[in-house]
Amino acid sequence: MKFLNIHKQDKKIFKNLINDFKKNINKGDFILGKSVETFEREFASYCGSKYAIGCGNGTDALTIALKALNLPNKSEVIIPAMTYCSTAFAVINANLKPVLADIDFMTPTISLNQIKKKINPRTKVIIPVHLYGSSANINGIKKIINKKKIKVIDDCAQAHGAYDDSIKNKKRIGSTSDISCFSFYPGKNLGAYGDAGIITTNSKIYNKIIRKMRNLGSEKKFIHEYIGLNSRLDTLQASILTKKLNFLDKNNLKRKNIAYFYDKQINSSKIEKLKYSNTCVYHQYVILTKYRKKLINLFKKKKIPFGFHYPYALNQIHALRKFFKNQKYPNAEKIASQGISLPIDPNLRNKDLRKVVKVINSF
Ligand SMILES: Cc1ncc(COP(=O)(O)O)c(C=O)c1O
Repeated sequence: MKFLNIHKQDKKIFKNLINDFKKNINKGDFILGKSVETFEREFASYCGSKYAIGCGNGTDALTIALKALNLPNKSEVIIPAMTYCSTAFAVINANLKPVLADIDFMTPTISLNQIKKKINPRTKVIIPVHLYGSSANINGIKKIINKKKIKVIDDCAQAHGAYDDSIKNKKRIGSTSDISCFSFYPGKNLGAYGDAGIITTNSKIYNKIIRKMRNLGSEKKFIHEYIGLNSRLDTLQASILTKKLNFLDKNNLKRKNIAYFYDKQINSSKIEKLKYSNTCVYHQYVILTKYRKKLINLFKKKKIPFGFHYPYALNQIHALRKFFKNQKYPNAEKIASQGISLPIDPNLRNKDLRKVVKVINSF
């Protein structure tokens, strides 16, 4: 059993991918080629957003989105204390100040009460993260912001294809914030064969700025309007992603079915389960236990793969500690110290799933 088997996921489309590679190589269409345009169009349409702008990776997507807002240095950006380091690093690399808010107890997403406490006149952006594929409460955040000049940039790196659970209308994540940022790191629900990312927005103005920002501030050769990044979506990755997008919903459904199986079948009193949004696409399925070392040893013995997402809350990460001295985020820190991610590869066999559950319930 593997934690994630990308080879198995994509086997059916390898021939097709190689053909596309050949075409691109023959054309020499390597930088912002036709495949990038095609993927941007298809991903925007999939999310239900007006625009999509490909870029180098998810970290750059966040950095570019923040830079596009052209905020005064050290403006405050509220982010959840439990997320991947990139959410915070992007804020710092854009010369802004990260402010942490804890997640809600036993959920993977940012707490509205914590946001209310952290908002002040210097707050310019809130970045909810749809961690593990669980939709954060975007609508609740918009209500808190009300008429204040605060933008919502959501970090969608783990939530490709999820619907926004905070609104009645069926709209996908990637279409309901001011700007949305995705990563296509290979292990994501939609993954490339290397680094890749994309930014979606419904704003014509942001689309224009971001398109330049990802290409050294330039739309026309040698005309550089901003100090931008060199962070373009690679043409070959774009052609892979276009093909793989066709399988995203099917794979997300398989992930959901695995999660429902775990929800129903895991019944050990030593395990706590998180509460995910109804529309969660389960990039990860994380359980909590006070006896983590013991369970890990058992997993190793029984050859069950596992992961940590993430073993440190942002305030505990070495490079970030100085920004959040003496601050405590108990809900985030609980996941960091007690969380274990179970295998959730869409193609896991029933036999494997039964084994995972049996081992957990026996411990
Ligand atoms: C929540 C979150 N934000 C940002 C990123 C950064 O994406 P990338 O690795 O493509 O830079 C990731 C991916 O690892 C992520 O999981």
